[in-house]
Amino acid sequence: MKNFSNYSDFDKKEALHFESKVVHGALGCEPITGAVSMPVFQTATFRHPELFQSTGYAYSRLQNPTRQELERTMAILEGGIEGFAFSSGQAANMAVFSLLSPGEHVILSDDIYGGTFRIVGDVFGRYGIEHTYVDMADLDAVRAAIRPSTKMLFVETPTNPMMKVADIAAVSAIAKEIGALMVVDNTFLTPYFQKPLALGADIVTHSSTKYLGGHNDTISGIVVVKDNEEIADRIRVHIKSHGSQLAPMDSWLVLRGIKTLAVRMDKHNENALKVATWLRSQPKVKEVFYVGFADHKDYEVTRRQTTGFGGMISFTVDSADTVKRILKNVDMIMFAESLGGTETLITYPTTQTHEDTPKDIKEKLGITDCFLRMSVGIENAEDIIADLDRAMND
Ligand SMILES: Cc1ncc(COP(=O)(O)O)c(C=O)c1O
Repeated sequence: MKNFSNYSDFDKKEALHFESKVVHGALGCEPITGAVSMPVFQTATFRHPELFQSTGYAYSRLQNPTRQELERTMAILEGGIEGFAFSSGQAANMAVFSLLSPGEHVILSDDIYGGTFRIVGDVFGRYGIEHTYVDMADLDAVRAAIRPSTKMLFVETPTNPMMKVADIAAVSAIAKEIGALMVVDNTFLTPYFQKPLALGADIVTHSSTKYLGGHNDTISGIVVVKDNEEIADRIRVHIKSHGSQLAPMDSWLVLRGIKTLAVRMDKHNENALKVATWLRSQPKVKEVFYVGFADHKDYEVTRRQTTGFGGMISFTVDSADTVKRILKNVDMIMFAESLGGTETLITYPTTQTHEDTPKDIKEKLGITDCFLRMSVGIENAEDIIADLDRAMND
């Protein structure tokens, strides 16, 4: 770990535990000066010594040392050969769906993030890529949706916002049988709690705006490819052509966020269990969707494939008036879109994250006007509960 003298040399740190890997990344520190915090290489271009000679960097759309440290770190944490950092989670998912060609078909989780829904329908639908939504927890439904043209299975687990869980190993096995790519959006649990590539997935995506960045201060996305060099090359060409790479400053913010990922995820996990348990005891709360409840339909799968439940909870209340009252009266908790940061946020999916999802689909899924989603932060759990209690019941 100590003797790096250039940017090409880096260490996967296989002997270290995850908590140490997040802190020390790939290079860990800057190799020439020893700067402990990887600098922000705020440069568009790189000078060459002479014709046919290069430092390894040419132009920051193609590669930048700060972004590269983030990409290598994510490849290490997810267990893949290569990582890519994008300007948003949407841009990351755009790159993944662009692996498909006209006439090909993708099967997706049915209550997927609304933005992913928009990419598949409004953007790629126009280019002749076909899609089917299924409940990925139902393996018979997955099999029934397969067509000869199915080339990708795209799973979000747990789903946003209904907290449904897919058995990653089982769905990956189906993907293998038919020669399709298995993709998992690992935004909600991060590799600290869930490692899809080890369970059989080919590609992992993230909105690193969320837990990886962790501080609600940057928008970014990540793709990690497990072992397929050709797919990695295609993603690299996609970034180079679309110019959807993550900027150096934002790469640094995500890198810094990742250093505390393990401790933050433990605290999110601990707090969410307390808040979900309290919510369940409330007369105005009708149903709580939380993967850490032993009576959650997919609890056994969760226990098998994850080491924690994360910080996300959804719940329904008795009326739209109660929703209004909560959103108006929360004080420390903020009514805002997004998730995964240190602050507890409460979101109204029907008009925010899932605004563009057709009404009939929202209703079928349960995203009604009485439905709320919470990203439980790392504050003191008693303060979160007291704020919710006052907002809902006073
Ligand atoms: C699960 C999931 N995937 C992808 C995205 C898109 O990420 P971004 O907002 O960073 O573009 C989001 C955003 O909320 C998300 O929740």
